[in-house]
Amino acid sequence: MSTQVGVSRSAALYERAQRVLPGGVSRNAALHDPHPLYVANAAGCRLTDVEGVTRIDCANNMASLVHGHADPDMIRVVTEQLRRGTAFSVATEVEIRCAEHLRSRNPGFEKLRFVNSGTEATMVGVKVARAFTGRPMIAKAEGAYHGGYDYLEVSQQPGPANWGEADEPRRVPLVRGVPASVLDEVLVVPFNDVARTIALLDKHADRLACVVMDLMPHRIGLNPAEPAYVAALREWTTRRGVLLFIDEVITFRSEYGGLQEKYGVTPDLTALGKMIGGGFPIGAIAGRADVMDVLNPRSPRYTFPHSGTFSANPVSVSAGLAAMEKFTKAEVERLNALARRAMAGVEAEIRRTGLAASLTGAGSMFRVHLKASPPRNYREAYTNREENARLKMLLDHMFDEGFILINSGSVALSTPMTETEVDALVAALGRGFERLAKTR
Ligand SMILES: Cc1ncc(COP(=O)(O)O)c(C=O)c1O
Repeated sequence: MSTQVGVSRSAALYERAQRVLPGGVSRNAALHDPHPLYVANAAGCRLTDVEGVTRIDCANNMASLVHGHADPDMIRVVTEQLRRGTAFSVATEVEIRCAEHLRSRNPGFEKLRFVNSGTEATMVGVKVARAFTGRPMIAKAEGAYHGGYDYLEVSQQPGPANWGEADEPRRVPLVRGVPASVLDEVLVVPFNDVARTIALLDKHADRLACVVMDLMPHRIGLNPAEPAYVAALREWTTRRGVLLFIDEVITFRSEYGGLQEKYGVTPDLTALGKMIGGGFPIGAIAGRADVMDVLNPRSPRYTFPHSGTFSANPVSVSAGLAAMEKFTKAEVERLNALARRAMAGVEAEIRRTGLAASLTGAGSMFRVHLKASPPRNYREAYTNREENARLKMLLDHMFDEGFILINSGSVALSTPMTETEVDALVAALGRGFERLAKTR
């Protein structure tokens, strides 16, 4: 504990943190200048830091807290479960109830397996696809984020210096030392570009296990995929016997049965996470029963022995079930309507201030871009150093105005929010746009 006069509690905590944690944090998203925000407590959509400042939380732990913080129902079910035990090497009824509930939201989730994070869900989903098809290769969109599995990290954040030709994006490793064999097994396709994507898929059809896609990829600009692109991928994968694996770790909050419901597309596999844990760590793979049977030791299809010490732990699945049950169709629609109101307000502020900015999003999330038109793919969404500096100015302004946004300029609403918070958010963004418009 620092006793220096004039050093804030947060600055003192950060100083200590840097001695034990690389960069002083456990996730880079927590970094903030001059020091991370340290939480004292949070409830609903408000978060109070250790300096005693309260802000409206529009990040909601990277879109995972659909009911905000310290929701009374989550507290109740988790407290009850804590008394009954937290993790067992035997099965629980609540994992069955949670799976039944998720399947009732989306009949395409014929079978589900719970894991501990979105990263694990996408990783296990890829392995399920490989096990089912007996093929090694996967396809993913340039710039898409699907968590920390080596194969899915390929071309997660390339730049103009290394991303190569648009016809055939280069396979760029995220981390130094990634084996070349990993790159050999990942086909990188340009998002929303039907002709180029299909041409690339055709070249590798015989080796592909699955095409992984996010219907509204955050890092590609949080712009919903064009329906023709989704339809083309569904048609191509069905025709070529390749699995379509949709990552709904973020987007499941967008519609009652996930964003796929809006597209009318049924993938072979879906990855879930974030929101379905009610604030606790979770992930799940859901999909066709015959495909999921590679995980079933009682099936002749069984080829993938999979385990996980904390998988389907009763704390996460109890909280998740309570969170999902409360996120009824009516609540999904109310939150989406609130987001539409916010988006209309932000659009109006962009017009009023004349700032070169645009907006993307769907469901209960949106993202502000300091670009004149909304990006359609990763290369258009890519922000250079100057754009990053301007975005930081906007985020700092919002922080000072009492709002925490996701550091990409994105907002994820939560059910405790009302028109009051949303209108205040829009007004604060408007003042931020005014300031930015003057700096040009
Ligand atoms: C689309 C998507 N997939 C997968 C993941 C990985 O989830 P987790 O952070 O729970 O490992 C994320 C996390 O942000 C995500 O946004």
